[in-house]
Amino acid sequence: MAKFLVENRGPLHGEVTISGSKNSVLPIMAATLLSDDECTILDVPALRDVEVMCEILESVGATVEKDYPSGKITIGAGNKLKNETPPDLVKRMRASILTMGPLLARDGSARAALPGGCAIGARPIDLHLKGFEIMGATIDYEEKQGYVIAKTDGRLHGGRIYLDYPSVGATENIMSAAALADGTTIIENVAQEPEIVDLANYLNKMGARVKGAGTDVIKIEGVEHLHGTTHHVIPDRIETGTFMVAAAITRGNVLVKNVVPDHVRPVIAKLTECGCVVEEEPEGLRVRGDVNQLVGTDIKTLPYPGFPTDMQSPFMAFLTTVHGVSTVTETVFENRYMHITELNRMGAGIMIEGKSAIVPGDAKLHGAQVVSTDLRAGAALVLAGLTADGQTEIAEIRHIERGYSEFAEKLKGLGASIERVEN
Ligand code: EPZ
Repeated sequence: MAKFLVENRGPLHGEVTISGSKNSVLPIMAATLLSDDECTILDVPALRDVEVMCEILESVGATVEKDYPSGKITIGAGNKLKNETPPDLVKRMRASILTMGPLLARDGSARAALPGGCAIGARPIDLHLKGFEIMGATIDYEEKQGYVIAKTDGRLHGGRIYLDYPSVGATENIMSAAALADGTTIIENVAQEPEIVDLANYLNKMGARVKGAGTDVIKIEGVEHLHGTTHHVIPDRIETGTFMVAAAITRGNVLVKNVVPDHVRPVIAKLTECGCVVEEEPEGLRVRGDVNQLVGTDIKTLPYPGFPTDMQSPFMAFLTTVHGVSTVTETVFENRYMHITELNRMGAGIMIEGKSAIVPGDAKLHGAQVVSTDLRAGAALVLAGLTADGQTEIAEIRHIERGYSEFAEKLKGLGASIERVEN
């Protein structure tokens, strides 16, 4: 298994260019199944998760042409598709469940292995299935095999769906299915993430009629046919935030390019509260951690536009190094504190009190052998290693490589000491 060896080489300097968004490209790739025509997606990041989604699309019968150096993928779903995603691929990547809505809408049935929970929580799909049922599908479970099957005689029909929680995946799956339904679907209390807006823009370029993406209510007027299109994926706001924090934790001065500042307002606000200087320049966001003494703040993760749960662990790593106590409260997932044990192995001294983590700050982190438990926790450990005394060895970096393309190369380009070694 591969590891990262990270050493403290002082403040990061220079500029880094952000890749396309993992959490935007995955639902868009799934939505290509809604059309018989070829669809081309540009600015696709070179990620393990993208590879897995390519395998899933091919496994149901789509053709996938990848031109990675240019970040271009062309997907053709003109043939008769199989309605089932391979269980081993579902287990490898939860986002594969996003093919259910398109397969159900297009061919009237979708059979998938229930995605298992993962390190950060149970991650059920009840809200996805609730939406499909309201649009006319019947849902059956094959308990023994752990499969779920959604079926409909004829076309799905429109309906009014209230999401008990603004689930990103449920919003994406239901929106994609509703695009081909007969009639109008209104989804209330939807996720408002930029990735939802990107998917809605993609669907509308295919001929769908989606309105309201980015607000808490989305209205979709179903159409009979969706045609192919070409689409540029938005930049990855979590990769953006991660490199902003890399500049802050090393007290550096970094220009983060190919960003949408509006997508990272909570991270800009919180870094500024801690004393960092964040300025919008023509080419991107300049983040400086070398101007003022940096101090603690409080973080509470919430659905967009709140502070993103995916930035909780990288930001917590940074808070261990500033002056003064910070409180971090995770509200989106029930078990997203696995990185605390690993950060404490490096001397962070974080305590959990109820649902919150208390970060004392002023930690003199030291290198240690640590393990990445999910992709954002892994990134957090790398950031901590950039500022720790001695060498930090981070194992299980396959998690990190699922969601960050060329992570080590980009950090090296900013002056970091990080080597990828095979066991
Ligand atoms: C997406 O996951 C992202 N993944 C996650 O990013 C991100 O952390 C999450 O949204 C929240 O922003 C992709 O987009 C591929 P949810 P998703 O459905 O769709 C509960 C990363 O690091 N829930 O919004 O699975 C669920 O258990 C990953 O890039 C239900 O109860 O997230 C969780 O507590 C990690 N029933 C909460 O909602 C459902 O039917 C948020 O889940 C669905 C979700």
